[in-house]
Amino acid sequence: FDSIDKLVNTQDGFISRELFVDSDIYKAELEKIFTRAWLMVGHESLVPNPGDFYTSRMGEESVILCRDKAGIIHVFLNSCRHRGMKVCRYESGNTSLFTCPYHSWTYTTDGRLQGVPLYKSLYDGVLDREANSLVSVAKLANYKGTIWATWDPEAPDFLTYLGDAKIHLDQALDCRDGREGGSEVIGVHKWIFPANWKFASENFLGDTYHNPSHRSVDLIGIGPSAASGKKGRRDDELAVAQHVWVSFPVGHGVHSAIQPEQNQYVESFLDNPVLEEYFRHCYEERKRRLGDGARLLPFVGTIFPNTSYHGRQPRGLCAWHPHSPTSTEAWRFFLVDKDAPQEVKDYLRHYYMRYSGPAGMTEQDDLENWLYATSASMGTVARRYPFNYQQSLGAYTSDHPLGGDVSLQVTEQIARGYYNGWAAFMRNASWDEITGGDRKGAARHAAE
Ligand code: FES
Repeated sequence: FDSIDKLVNTQDGFISRELFVDSDIYKAELEKIFTRAWLMVGHESLVPNPGDFYTSRMGEESVILCRDKAGIIHVFLNSCRHRGMKVCRYESGNTSLFTCPYHSWTYTTDGRLQGVPLYKSLYDGVLDREANSLVSVAKLANYKGTIWATWDPEAPDFLTYLGDAKIHLDQALDCRDGREGGSEVIGVHKWIFPANWKFASENFLGDTYHNPSHRSVDLIGIGPSAASGKKGRRDDELAVAQHVWVSFPVGHGVHSAIQPEQNQYVESFLDNPVLEEYFRHCYEERKRRLGDGARLLPFVGTIFPNTSYHGRQPRGLCAWHPHSPTSTEAWRFFLVDKDAPQEVKDYLRHYYMRYSGPAGMTEQDDLENWLYATSASMGTVARRYPFNYQQSLGAYTSDHPLGGDVSLQVTEQIARGYYNGWAAFMRNASWDEITGGDRKGAARHAAE
């Protein structure tokens, strides 16, 4: 394929369509991005007890998220060291051993090869059990209950990777009353759609410009646009907040809002008094605990490359797992406060299903856009014409307390930053350059 600089021209605001359809670029992404970047694998609440496991994905590869007998969480490649059989074919469960279905090698919950049939007569003195344990990720982080992993032993620690995007992600992961962490996954939606994984990642950076796609949900009052829905949500407060779109090193991008001190948004579901009371209580507690920090309200964001979050209801995390250049497996992990009343959890679960997921209203809007944009970009002629990313070109400041490049108007700067990050990975840039530590290296490349 063309050189990375030809494919990604963020200075002028053009990105080649080949990024969304080309199989050679896709193969290079799996190698250069998905074996290096920190990827979200799941949430600790999916494996609460010793022996619990949940099969997940990192890029195209199946992995096992597992809590061992001692309570320690691991992530392993879900492939037997003998002939590669998928060791665990269940989605989730509890076990004391993983037994490979092919020739019955068994692995403990901390990944060690334990049982080998006919070991003494066929392998004695040759087979090194230690060296044939399940392949473990190089690094693993439990961040406020979310489990992240990377195959790259040279990768920086997760917080360095996250950088200043941390406070935005925090707002999505923390309890609604301002306590750190304390969320649990209430369900996971999974489906496959025929479009490139970056369509979804990019959309969740903060593509506020696409909100007209969700006109129908706005009209019935569960939509994303501030002050448009009157039936079930009370969003008027958001119309007076200062919205910010922030692009960070690595390629992370977020859309958040800084609310006026005296006029802050209270999560609200007017048709249910229990929800009203719960969120009013959370609002008061959050203000008391966080003070001025309570003014930051997260909307959406993407942690490069393929983990997105939705900070307001429906609160949750998304993983956009690549299957092929034009096929993606979407997972949405829905979050609730672990100690919320059961009625609140039940109400939100139903709300999440109406709003998101393959049968939800907004997801269908988005999917139509990504699907048709893909099919209309695959032709020989269409592929000659890059996508346009010139919106609000240059309209941002790099000198803002939030860090990163901050735009105060709807912008594609977050997408341009995302593809700068993409280009750095695809050029095999150093970690220092990727995380913004080596600004000279990044500047040198920009000048070349
Ligand atoms: Fe697993 Fe042979 S492939 S035991």
